[in-house]
Amino acid sequence: MLTTWLTERFELSVPVVSAPMAGVSGGELAGAVSAAGGLGMIGFAGGRAEDLRHEASLAKAAGRPFGIGLLAWVLDFQPELLDVALECGPALVSVSFGSYAPYVERVKAAGALFATQAGTVGDARAALVLGADLIVARGGEGGGHGRDAVGTLPLLQGVLDAVDVPVLAAGGVGTARGLAAVLAAGAAGAWVGTAFVSCPEATNTPAARAAVIAATELDTIYTRVLDLGRGVPWPEDFGGRALRNAFAERWHGREAELAAAGERTDEPVVWAGQSAGLVHAERPAAEVLRDFAGAEELLLAVLSRSR
Ligand SMILES: Cc1cc2nc3c(=O)[nH]c(=O)nc-3n(C[C@H](O)[C@H](O)[C@H](O)COP(=O)(O)O)c2cc1C
Repeated sequence: MLTTWLTERFELSVPVVSAPMAGVSGGELAGAVSAAGGLGMIGFAGGRAEDLRHEASLAKAAGRPFGIGLLAWVLDFQPELLDVALECGPALVSVSFGSYAPYVERVKAAGALFATQAGTVGDARAALVLGADLIVARGGEGGGHGRDAVGTLPLLQGVLDAVDVPVLAAGGVGTARGLAAVLAAGAAGAWVGTAFVSCPEATNTPAARAAVIAATELDTIYTRVLDLGRGVPWPEDFGGRALRNAFAERWHGREAELAAAGERTDEPVVWAGQSAGLVHAERPAAEVLRDFAGAEELLLAVLSRSR
């Protein structure tokens, strides 16, 4: 069994955290990942406190540690969500994308570990200064929102050199090969979103799961126009990576024109990263996790070849 800081801290059998994914990773997916030996996270973008409590109760039913991921810029408007999250008893809380400084000590005081997603080495250094227990080096190939500035591999190397707290790699880790690569580099594990998007335990639609399965690694786009077109006030620094759709094809690169035209879209958006090209079937979370466990054999094979 692979042993890292992550597996020891949360008693996991596979060094994988399923990423918080609002609209996709509810309590059922998080609980299924935790039950299978990873650390499952609930993603909550904002909304009713009772919905977050409900999702947490589903995750808790697995009887294993789980996490909750919140958005810093949403907490600016809905600060009470952090209290609700902490009352649910998560082992790990992530607050990403915006000014999360006010929340770090509150999370720790409640007995949870604090994590945040960093898109540059500078982001990671700031997280260290602000007291993050765990830093997620999230490269631009990842699904959903974040920075597009740096790819996962150069970011991970830079962050590992820059900080002395555990680091997880995120963005494009879709199979055991990717997990083996980031573990070999020195990450304590991977923070994986897209590879879990097509699990039946997810709260997205069957059509979204099928679209990710059909997609190749070329079918995503990093853009701000999907948020502009839906009127979602994400901070400018954070675009999102999704499967290409007609609205994105039409407006990407013409953001100012779009803002002036005020055109809106209700075309469905399927947030997903480049590792969509590695998702080939709808599979239960436990199966996806079992595949990730194959990283151990890959690493052993490398060692045995070099002896
Ligand atoms: C569908 C989807 C929704 C996401 N929603 C959130 C979210 O609510 N909060 C968050 O911190 N990150 C969110 N992310 C980003 C993930 O936490 C993570 O950075 C990303 O999935 C990692 O890259 P990968 O998709 O290549 O595995 C989302 C990602 C996806 C694919």
